Amino acid sequence: TQRRITVIRGDGIGPSIIDSALQILDKVGCDFAYDFADAGLTALENEGELLPQKTLDLIAKNGVTLKGPLTTPVGEGFTSINVSLRKKFELYANVRPVISFKGTQARYENIDIITVRENTEGMYSGLGQIVSEDGSEAEAKSKITRAGAERIVEFAYELARREGRKKVTAVHKANILKSTSGLFLKVAREVGERYPDIESAEMIVDNACMQLVMNPHQFDVMVTTNLFGDIISDLCAGLVGGLGMAPGANIGKDCAIFEAVHGSAPDIAGKNLANPSSVILASIQMLEYLEMGDKAEKIRNALKDVIESGDRTTRDLGGSAGTTDFTQAVLDRL
Ligand code: NAI
Ligand code: MG
Repeated sequence: TQRRITVIRGDGIGPSIIDSALQILDKVGCDFAYDFADAGLTALENEGELLPQKTLDLIAKNGVTLKGPLTTPVGEGFTSINVSLRKKFELYANVRPVISFKGTQARYENIDIITVRENTEGMYSGLGQIVSEDGSEAEAKSKITRAGAERIVEFAYELARREGRKKVTAVHKANILKSTSGLFLKVAREVGERYPDIESAEMIVDNACMQLVMNPHQFDVMVTTNLFGDIISDLCAGLVGGLGMAPGANIGKDCAIFEAVHGSAPDIAGKNLANPSSVILASIQMLEYLEMGDKAEKIRNALKDVIESGDRTTRDLGGSAGTTDFTQAVLDRL
């Protein structure tokens, strides 16, 4: 039977880059059936709410969702849709791979790093937020659980094993944040011992930031807590030429959402200027998740070829092609 995928085309540049990705998936013969659903501004306008129940039902039903960027309206009472989705479906692993292509803003050649970020705990758990009445003091609670740390570190090692990677680096600040980061590091060491086939390393987060800039090739898979993962993964995106090249997956026990890391880019929306690479790379992650690695590889090679040859790339990559022309170039390679 045909695999069904939920597709949220999203706001701003979302529809145009998602359409690129769908054309490419069809071209390599994925034969998916798509269920389209609305979220974000589009949903608010069409259905009166940011995250309609119909959309949630489709995300749950198909288990796999490809999602364009969403605009969260500025103002009272709108919580981030991405945060809501992560909570609702317990998407505990945020997987953000970066690879460098020649001819882009990438700072180094041959970068291939995956950040595995814990997506539900730590500084972003939303617990214990207090601001004193006179506004002079504020506090928030960071919570790490053994179960939460264990599942994310195991996820990182399983991913490393599945993809034939060599090393997992646990990134922490256990020297200062003794309780929370300390527990994370302790669990990371325990889990690491269960994977003797993979090299285990650990690094304090501030040093890791410097090392990433100075000598990124020492990193393979990095696993870390929520806040550090948020920051480090953007640093990695910067290493390979920015958000246009950065995909992300949010993965839970029986649900996964694949997306671009950037937003809806209202400044270039509707102008055929967006670089669709981020969602094409997210589709590659989706194919790997679905164990369709051969098709993922085909798309990766075609994309690499188009970007590195540089003749039909988008403006952010230094070219002058539009979104549709860039997409056609990838389709031509395929
Ligand atoms: P943004 O990521 O949309 O844009 C930042 C800059 O990067 C802009 O100059 C934009 O033109 C450029 N850019 C982004 N993606 C690009 C692409 N594929 N090709 C070429 N250039 C690209 O961030 P911004 O402007 O802060 O946010 C706009 C909206 O997006 C907001 O409503 C925000 O809430 C939402 N947002 C949604 C996210 C999501 O759904 N995952 C993530 C981040 C922001
Ligand atoms: Mg972030």
